[in-house]
Amino acid sequence: MTKTITIIGGCGHVGIPLGVTLANANQKVNLLDINAKAVETINSGKLPFIEEGAEEILKKVVGKNLIATTNPKVLLESDVVVFVTGTPVDEHHNPRVHDVTKVIQSYIEFLSPKQLIVLRSTVYPGVSEIIHNLLEKQLGSCKLAFCPERILQGKGIEEIYKLPQIVSAMSLAAENEAAELFSLIAPKVLRLQPKEAEIAKLMTNTWRYLEFAIANQFYMMAESQGLDFYKIYGALTDDYPRAKHFAKPGLAAGPCLFKDTMQMSAFHKNNFFMGQSAMLVNEGLPVFLADQLEEKIGNLKNKKVAILGMTFKANNDDKRESLAFKLKKVLEMKMAEVICCDEYLPGMTPLNQAVETADGVILGVPHREYLNLKMNKPFVDCWGVWKKN
Ligand SMILES: NC(=O)c1ccc[n+]([C@@H]2O[C@H](COP(=O)([O-])OP(=O)(O)OC[C@H]3O[C@@H](n4cnc5c(N)ncnc54)[C@H](O)[C@@H]3O)[C@@H](O)[C@H]2O)c1
Repeated sequence: MTKTITIIGGCGHVGIPLGVTLANANQKVNLLDINAKAVETINSGKLPFIEEGAEEILKKVVGKNLIATTNPKVLLESDVVVFVTGTPVDEHHNPRVHDVTKVIQSYIEFLSPKQLIVLRSTVYPGVSEIIHNLLEKQLGSCKLAFCPERILQGKGIEEIYKLPQIVSAMSLAAENEAAELFSLIAPKVLRLQPKEAEIAKLMTNTWRYLEFAIANQFYMMAESQGLDFYKIYGALTDDYPRAKHFAKPGLAAGPCLFKDTMQMSAFHKNNFFMGQSAMLVNEGLPVFLADQLEEKIGNLKNKKVAILGMTFKANNDDKRESLAFKLKKVLEMKMAEVICCDEYLPGMTPLNQAVETADGVILGVPHREYLNLKMNKPFVDCWGVWKKN
């Protein structure tokens, strides 16, 4: 049966993959967003950012059973309302629960007890219950589900069709409706209680953040002793099954892993020592990389340093919370002249020019354009790409 589904925050990184795949499953989808420019871009059949495979589906459905809009009145006609606005932590790394409740409150006049309301943003444990109380108080009753997104940014379309969908709800009726909805796109539905689902999502990202932290820590330990980390890594992972998932070092950043680890820490009364340590390690890597370059080319004062790749993820244009910008700051504190290069961002120095003029180069993120470079300048590459060239 065709339902009308409105996704609030629908023009963002989570909203678009969900919206286009539901539209592709013959549902009527409204992407409701306050970003008028993104709304216009989507309605013209284009994406506001890189998301592999999404534009092809968008072109098929846009203007037919999918529109983007800034008009909240589309909610009045909707059977399902999905919230996917951002859920950052504050400057002290505390969850900003009120960001979620404020957005919901701002749309309350358009919501009704008949609608299935789905929270899809990553939320602090207990937030689904808080929102359920808020909605019950204002609407009399409500059908609320929490169904977290777990896709990898940039690979959202491929993954949304492959990953099991965790579904939880405040009532069995809402849980069944949400399970039916996600069965349209997900291969499998896994049912949990809301608090379990909230924690499952946070644990997923925290686990990943800790995997990168141990890899980064080992990289720093080996390299600071003058050892070649990747030689060691190559040997220890070669045909050794238990090291199959051993993460590689790299700048671990982006809008999710750090903040979700901090939410997990807040949840455990800030006694999450492994999470806090992971944060110190991952956030400390840019400083280590700047020091590594300094060891190779001497005091960085007035030296030209090129960073290749400023986004937080390879082959993507997303620079949210990218540690390459922290690296830039660290280098500038050492009074280096920093040249930023990134094929995926506007206003950056072209690759050839950046490398030619630089005294030293640091690989910020391994975009495909950099993988086969034969680097003829002193360089630091924690991703393990250039040495083998
Ligand atoms: N990016 C990912 O790959 C990913 C993966 C899993 C989970 N998440 C979680 O999903 C949530 C959203 O993340 P995102 O990356 O899509 O963020 P995003 O910033 O890309 O998208 C959020 C969208 O919400 C819109 N918005 C903000 N306030 C609004 C309002 N009042 N009304 C309507 N629209 C509004 C913004 O304009 C933006 O388009 C976060 O909780 C995040 O942790 C993200």
